[in-house]
Amino acid sequence: MSVRPSLLEYESRLNRPLMMKIPELQVNERLKHVIFARQFSKVTLQRLFDLADKIRNISQSKPGCDYLTSLLSHKRAMLYFTQQSTRTFLSFMAACQILGMRVNEIRDPSLSSEYKGEDPLDSVRMFSTYFDLIIMRSKIPNFAECCAYLMNDLDHFHMKTVPIVSGGAGADEHPTQALLDIYTIDRLFSFTASPNSPRVDWFNKLKVKYPDLTKGLDGKHYCFCGDIGRGRTVRSLCQLLALYDNITITFVCPDHPKLIPGSDLLSFLSSHRVTVNQTDTLDDVLGKTDLLYMTRIQKEHDSQNDAGSYKEEDMEKCRLNLDRVARMKDFAGILHPFPRNEEIPMDIDRDPRALYFTQARNGMWMRAALIAYLFDVDSRIDAFHQKTFSEYHDYNVGVL
Ligand code: NCD
Repeated sequence: MSVRPSLLEYESRLNRPLMMKIPELQVNERLKHVIFARQFSKVTLQRLFDLADKIRNISQSKPGCDYLTSLLSHKRAMLYFTQQSTRTFLSFMAACQILGMRVNEIRDPSLSSEYKGEDPLDSVRMFSTYFDLIIMRSKIPNFAECCAYLMNDLDHFHMKTVPIVSGGAGADEHPTQALLDIYTIDRLFSFTASPNSPRVDWFNKLKVKYPDLTKGLDGKHYCFCGDIGRGRTVRSLCQLLALYDNITITFVCPDHPKLIPGSDLLSFLSSHRVTVNQTDTLDDVLGKTDLLYMTRIQKEHDSQNDAGSYKEEDMEKCRLNLDRVARMKDFAGILHPFPRNEEIPMDIDRDPRALYFTQARNGMWMRAALIAYLFDVDSRIDAFHQKTFSEYHDYNVGVL
């Protein structure tokens, strides 16, 4: 086996079923590289939810922040984002800073040695000699996955290796966006609030209007609206939701070949006993949905034929407005991975159901939790939290 492979050498490993790949991305049942949403079990998700809650609690005081920044102050992270990104890039940057990691970045490959013809795998191996963690988003399909295999091969030869975390890859995967999305949903459906909050007895009040309402992600109706066919955030989140029981997913999208859900996603969901529906208008689902996940039309992936092929009246049926939001359940959340276009006008932002800015903030805590977990400092966070909040105050839970 060569330690200087080109991307082509990974083809046979890339073509294996996911279930064969997952064990290679972990060490002793613990995640090592983060490439696929399906690497997360329900137990790991619960662990990360708990850790993210603790990090946000601890961060409320200066001694708490100082403690957190001491945890990984001896580590350095490389943010290698050569595909466009604002939120994911900055959210990872902030997450590293919360844990005290020093961070460096490459965003424009024309300013790197790739411009001189360097194989991007060589670039990544070079980064791994300087840094302790590589977080990446690339235009090259499956690149993060190949980098994880490269690191494993280096490990095999007892050479320095680092964890690889995907910040969104190709059309298929955005594992850490799915993590922050499901964390936001978990907090929403916990229906808890601080003792002083006007929402303290919210769940019992909601039960009067919605007698069948239960806490948690099971048994809920989730709607995804917009560009389902090309939305990697939708695909990754659907894979996590499929871990929960008795859920229904409705896809709301114009009946256009580029925008409808792919057959692989549909067969994945049906093999996981998820009830799946499809419609072309939000009006069909507003009163039924517990969680509405909006997405923009990813026009940057349009071919020349696609541009102009979307009918305006079809697009309008997949956009929110104040009247449509007013028809939603009182507790239903509206999420969006952002950036948004015309599918959510800004006048909706004031509605308490609009959770997309909270969702983005949750991403920072969740990514800090993930990095702490990857570097095995999570038990130290548990211990500090226990010591600091030994008299249990649940004051931060439910503060979305
Ligand atoms: C998404 C992405 O890049 O896949 N955004 C994000 O990461 N927050 C969705 C998008 O670009 O529309």
